[in-house]
Amino acid sequence: MSTVVISGAQWGDEGKGKIVDYLAQQADTVVRFQGGSNAGHTVTVSGEEYKLRLLPSGILYKGTTCVIGNGVVVDPQCLIEEIDNMQKRGVDTSGIRLSNRAHVVMPWHKLIDELGENLRGENKIGTTKRGIGPCYIDKADRIGIRVCDLIDREEFAAKVRNVIKVKNLILEKVYNHTPLDAEKIIREYEGYAKRLRPFVCDTIALLNAELGMGKKILFEGAQATMLDIDYGTYPYVTSSHPISGGVGIGAGIAPKKIDTVVGVVKAYCTRVGEGPFPTEQLNEIGDKLREAGHEFGTVTGRPRRTGWLDACVVKYAGQLSGTDYMAVTRLDILDGFDEIKMCTAYKIDGEIIHEIPASLKVLAKVEPVYETFAGWKTDISKIRRYEDLPENARKYLERMAEVTGIALGIVSVGPNRDQTIVLENIFGEQ
Ligand code: GDP
Ligand code: IMO
Ligand code: MG
Repeated sequence: MSTVVISGAQWGDEGKGKIVDYLAQQADTVVRFQGGSNAGHTVTVSGEEYKLRLLPSGILYKGTTCVIGNGVVVDPQCLIEEIDNMQKRGVDTSGIRLSNRAHVVMPWHKLIDELGENLRGENKIGTTKRGIGPCYIDKADRIGIRVCDLIDREEFAAKVRNVIKVKNLILEKVYNHTPLDAEKIIREYEGYAKRLRPFVCDTIALLNAELGMGKKILFEGAQATMLDIDYGTYPYVTSSHPISGGVGIGAGIAPKKIDTVVGVVKAYCTRVGEGPFPTEQLNEIGDKLREAGHEFGTVTGRPRRTGWLDACVVKYAGQLSGTDYMAVTRLDILDGFDEIKMCTAYKIDGEIIHEIPASLKVLAKVEPVYETFAGWKTDISKIRRYEDLPENARKYLERMAEVTGIALGIVSVGPNRDQTIVLENIFGEQ
């Protein structure tokens, strides 16, 4: 097996960064293929925390190639800050490669993201305000600016001067906001271009050459299935495709080149931002999950909404991504619970269903059908072998695999690299 996709199976923040970092010890290359700096992936190595937004979570290994693919929307200022931070901490950044086809997040994207949210008022999506949606809008509208334009001084200036005419009309006439100064932006971005130029290349050619050589490539999803623009709880979603199918488009490799898919599943469930969340616990259970799990957003610091695991959602994610294995994270957060619940079906108007309704009106009405499990009430954070986990923890995990139809591949019992129980060798034999 040489290509592995890591994809979030819920609403994000499942611990994808931790799993990617763990598996990256075997990989030659780690690739981000969608999203942008809305992602916040935390990697903990020997107790030291690294928060990654645009850089792939393979960056902590010297010699690993870290690709930001064409499907990513790149905020150059944020990327440079991340690179500087890594360099300050002694991390090798020479393996970074930035796609010349990736779209660039411009100041108007961030501004319009924020102003648009304000205008939506009660109907706001709860975006991260990083300009993600507006940047993807411009890509689809064919007025986006790409990295290949950013590093071409004249082309970039011409594009900014042209696009800003429309953007300023929108800012002034729709949002009653002061216009942006094209020349100031051009000067600012010239500085970014100078810094980023050494990392820019044709990542499609690079990745396909690596595939040809049989190199081990890890594709790192950001966000998650329920935030996918087609398959998530639309419109309360992000603007890209975090499922495994997003890899073909966002990295420029053929879908048939994907060997293995790992779905990252938090042992309970969280969501940031607005939108339906059937198993949400707006009670002391939810508070206990938030406190035990320190569930506050990496990017925005917002308290995350919390609830029980929804196996219907995980099964759906598995179907969409062709998930071979689950990597179940944060099982240790449930250590202190007397009982744990898992939603295995929904009830609507007296009828039992297992699918995710498309209509948010219907989804808001579904009642989760729960199975209850006895807790294990033991500290599992030091356990390293599956058979050493308490029986009640294994029962919970095995029922999860049964209901979702997805095999257990990894169980994570803490944020550190070594707090990982491996049931399957994801990359196959060495
Ligand atoms: P991501 O966006 O999917 O990469 O997830 P985040 O990094 O936003 O949130 C997951 C948090 O859980 C991070 O702080 C991780 O360090 C932490 N984490 C990951 N796996 C585990 C685990 O098994 N146990 C505990 N206690 N923390 C974990
Ligand atoms: P990682 O990769 C959790 C959510 C936002 C909002 C919606 C749209 O760390 O799992 P956007 O800024 O993308 O237009 O916001 O998506 N969202 C995330 N939630 N984890 C993330 O990333 C997220 N990225 C976006 O809160 O509800
Ligand atoms: Mg996150």
